[in-house]
Amino acid sequence: MKPFPKQDFTHSGVPSRAAQTGEDAGYGQLRRRVLDLTGIDLDCYKRQQMLRRLDAILSRCHLSDLGQLANELKPGSPILREFMERFTINVSECFRDRPRFDQLAHEILPTILQRNPAPRIWSAGCSYGAEPYSLAILLKEAHATRATILATDIDPKILETARAGASFTANDFKNMSRDLVQRYFQPQADGTFRINDQAKTMVSFKQHNLLTEAPGRDFDLILCRNVTIYFTEEAKDQVTTMLANALRPGGVLFIGETESLHRPTRFGLNMRSTSFYERAA
Ligand SMILES: C[S@@+](CC[C@H](N)C(=O)[O-])C[C@H]1O[C@@H](n2cnc3c(N)ncnc32)[C@H](O)[C@@H]1O
Repeated sequence: MKPFPKQDFTHSGVPSRAAQTGEDAGYGQLRRRVLDLTGIDLDCYKRQQMLRRLDAILSRCHLSDLGQLANELKPGSPILREFMERFTINVSECFRDRPRFDQLAHEILPTILQRNPAPRIWSAGCSYGAEPYSLAILLKEAHATRATILATDIDPKILETARAGASFTANDFKNMSRDLVQRYFQPQADGTFRINDQAKTMVSFKQHNLLTEAPGRDFDLILCRNVTIYFTEEAKDQVTTMLANALRPGGVLFIGETESLHRPTRFGLNMRSTSFYERAA
């Protein structure tokens, strides 16, 4: 177990409750409990961000310290659900970072499809499905009907939402034309939107922790966007190595707008353009 720093401060400048209790046995107990129940290793996430999230969980659940939180985490319990909701940040939207999606559509996908008309694509850390369904729409528009998309996330509850494909709101569509929304999403009575079956059937969902082995190999394209920003540098390198090895030679890794890979060649990747890295042949 890595020790907590002597003092951690929240934005308000007041030591957080998680930080105050972080050096006692409660942290070790919590780390083991979370690992057993969810496969999440707290030590792989950035410490300051994690402390803030743990603090929010303590407040919300009216708990005084991390040991108490560890005791309350039980399979199927509301506190475990609260923990997962606060811990996994599920923010997403369709065609997030639209300029990069345009580049994917006009530059990257045509090359991939030329090489393999039935490409294998992996959306890693897919949250409620906005990212893989955006890909499905792109591929449908390109008539790439033989493409398959695997979408994975560590959070089983968010995967249920993703599989249902029915929780989209107007907020998800700000990067899409009205025409595209009308052709691929059906409005529901409660004001939400459901993805059409033609795009839905291209995506299969699976629970997967990025800090374990890849769920497949020889992918033509992998998207891993806005997930590893929460990881420590060591964990990030571990994930990048795994992702690079899961690509076929010439395959492309697509990362988030605010992310970049330091010295990508150490992973066998060459930068193709901002956000896109290609596995060396
Ligand atoms: C901010 S969302 C990103 C969604 C989408 N990729 C995007 O860019 O819009 C981050 C997702 O990563 C998932 N996640 C966090 N840690 C993970 C891990 N170790 N393995 C797999 N998924 C993880 C979270 O559950 C969450 O759904």
